[in-house]
Amino acid sequence: MKQIRRIGMFTGGGDAPGLNAVVRGVVKAAIHAQGWEVFGFYDAFRGLVRGEGRWLQWDDVSGILTQGGTILGTTNRDNPFDFVDDHRYPDKRRDASRDVLATCRKLKLDAIVSVGGDGTQSCAHRMSQLGLRLVGVPKTIDNDVCGTEITFGFNTAMTTATEAVDKLHTTAFSHHRVMLLEVMGRTAGWLALGAGMAGGGDVILIPEIPYRLETICEAIRQRVRRGKHFSIVVVAEGARPVGGQVVIRQTVPGSPETVRLGGISAVLAQQIEQCTGIETRHTILGHLQRGGTPSPFDRYLATEFATSAVDLLARGQFNRMVCVRRGKIDSVPLSVPGSRPRVIAPRCHAIQMARSMGVCFGD
Ligand code: F6P
Repeated sequence: MKQIRRIGMFTGGGDAPGLNAVVRGVVKAAIHAQGWEVFGFYDAFRGLVRGEGRWLQWDDVSGILTQGGTILGTTNRDNPFDFVDDHRYPDKRRDASRDVLATCRKLKLDAIVSVGGDGTQSCAHRMSQLGLRLVGVPKTIDNDVCGTEITFGFNTAMTTATEAVDKLHTTAFSHHRVMLLEVMGRTAGWLALGAGMAGGGDVILIPEIPYRLETICEAIRQRVRRGKHFSIVVVAEGARPVGGQVVIRQTVPGSPETVRLGGISAVLAQQIEQCTGIETRHTILGHLQRGGTPSPFDRYLATEFATSAVDLLARGQFNRMVCVRRGKIDSVPLSVPGSRPRVIAPRCHAIQMARSMGVCFGD
């Protein structure tokens, strides 16, 4: 097997706290442990299609461990197999996968580290079928990448969302209101469940358990009967009523994630106020969840993933994604993350624990 001397790396999809920790970990382990050179591509697959990026030296990644975002830039709208060269003309699309291969040949890259969520890894898997050698690192605040028990970014986002629940609690109590907090999570409710439980939410609505408005309102009325004149509802952006649809904010054709959600909390707030007669407000936490300094947990996990990715490449274990399985670092085939999202099983321990304390899931 051809020995590795140069590798490429990119960060793809929506950003997540800990991306820079991965970039740092990959560059340092590649240089220090293997003596390789590392090329960092700008803006995910866009950089690979266009050959844009730079060789990363030790000093380039020194001091970025605690920084949010990614020094390489990212995007969640570029798909190399359905590529838009100029986003002012979104209808002009083409298959640019051969350009990616040409870039890697030109830079004499022996393998690529692909840092991203399910959309990014599924494109990476398709590129591996064209002969590119890759190793994936799972990222997303949503924690929904199939094949790993946890992604970096989730812990920080859950902390941010929990702090928001804590703050809403005091104002909800003072005004005797129902407060809704909408958090991210298109297909999986890990953030809503995590922040809802850690923040002591009364109602938690997740994509995996469709809700009934009447059930939510009855839970709120019951609290009033117990003397609690305020309630906290934590709702994932992908939550939907039984037999109903999610609330779509925007569609981005061709993107690895075509649908952008948002706004369910505004719809629900109006319905809850009408149904219960209690003043109701909503807050959409939005991209605050993706920003900020990564938590110590995420910095550690991102670093562990990064060094494991370099180790996989060094051992010739291509086209795999590093992961956490049964609490330990491991790897799975790169085909796994794109196969389906990792969702919450409605009968899992966490849901049962919440139900046993009277948390309402709206069903
Ligand atoms: O994939 C992570 C995520 O945070 C989703 O939960 C959310 O729907 C999406 O990104 C929003 O992405 P953007 O608004 O940046 O397109």
